[in-house]
Amino acid sequence: MKMVEKKLAWYEATIIKDMMGLMGGRALRGGMSTYISSKIYQGKASLLRVANLLEATIDLEERRALIITDSFTQKFAKYITDYLDNINMEYKIWSGAEPEVPIPTIYEGAKICEEFKPQVLIAIGGGSVMDTTKMVMVKYEKPEVNLFMILPYFGCVGLRKKFKYFIAIPTTSGTGSEVTQVAVITDTDRDPPKKLEVLSDELTADITILFTDFVKDMPPFLTMATGLDAFSHAIGSFVSNWGSPYVDAMNTTAIKEILKYLPRAYKYGAKDIEAREHMQMASLMAGVGFGNTTPGIDHSLGHSFGKIFNVHHGLSVGLFTVYSIAFQAKVTDRWKLLCPIFNIQEENKSRKELLTEFLQAIRDFIESLDAPVRVKDLKDPVITQEEYYNKLDLLTNYAADDAVALTSFRTMSEKLFKTIFEYAWDGQDIDF
Ligand SMILES: [Fe+2]
Repeated sequence: MKMVEKKLAWYEATIIKDMMGLMGGRALRGGMSTYISSKIYQGKASLLRVANLLEATIDLEERRALIITDSFTQKFAKYITDYLDNINMEYKIWSGAEPEVPIPTIYEGAKICEEFKPQVLIAIGGGSVMDTTKMVMVKYEKPEVNLFMILPYFGCVGLRKKFKYFIAIPTTSGTGSEVTQVAVITDTDRDPPKKLEVLSDELTADITILFTDFVKDMPPFLTMATGLDAFSHAIGSFVSNWGSPYVDAMNTTAIKEILKYLPRAYKYGAKDIEAREHMQMASLMAGVGFGNTTPGIDHSLGHSFGKIFNVHHGLSVGLFTVYSIAFQAKVTDRWKLLCPIFNIQEENKSRKELLTEFLQAIRDFIESLDAPVRVKDLKDPVITQEEYYNKLDLLTNYAADDAVALTSFRTMSEKLFKTIFEYAWDGQDIDF
């Protein structure tokens, strides 16, 4: 199969950036709202229910499932295969998904699909496995499509002619990829490699299964970092001002749940199944929240920072959450609606005092999970001030070229991104 991707994604074109810069992210919001999710099954009986659905809707001679995992999550495949055996569904397990979804792995998965011709794709894993599966779907069905030029708002790819179902079973609680129409992949031809987003309604899973046994043994760091990703999705997209009553409900509930259950899940791990279950659902709800609006600019900043310094996605976006909200606060009061969730009362406080208190509450929450809110406090990896400032231009360039930057409610510029990165080194308050 031939590699057809061009170097640039559609949203990196100067004309798009200039137009969106002129209109602001709010231009798109006025034209369209989306309410996309998958069918969601939660709990121990969900595998059986979904197996029954597959048996009833796929003819015997067509029953083939490709289970996509990575080298770590392939151990979960055995939970699924008994159910597939029971309905006489042939299956293959491909454990070739890799962190950050390097493009060559997508072609590898598509080649397996061409040979095996699955009707069902079952992704078991974290965000990278989900996103690999989304891209494999495209390359299996439409090998001629350039992944970087799929237009999210009005373009249609035309998937699900060769396969019937994409089933997403997350093994972490954070990315929300099990219900979003987004895939984040890595262009390994760039130096350093760059994260790129692909968006299309057709990438959304048909069925999501929340099976707590798959997340209960997550180690504390992964629990914390993926949980902060969900936190950042919910709070960043709520404040972004793209909301509607439907997604606002998802985001505010997700924030409440994360504040309550993430510290418990981080501290008690597999001993607190209730916290695990609530974090699975909170992460999914935050996924519906940001998937149907837009994440905060913490995601443009975090994508760039995470890729350049090799920092976990959740830790990166968590670090930039406060700066993202403080930056948007110049043009919106939406953050005020979240104050009661953080037990902050308006009373007779000035707007500035209230905002200061709100931002501090977010910092306190993130730091209570042993995660940094200043770049200089990052422990793994440790980044020196010199290293950080040497990379400022590249950090700025990657953040400004990120799809999320286009939909910022407050119009972004390279200069603003650079200043935010400078302020984030030692946690200066955003004052512009
Ligand atoms: Fe994220």
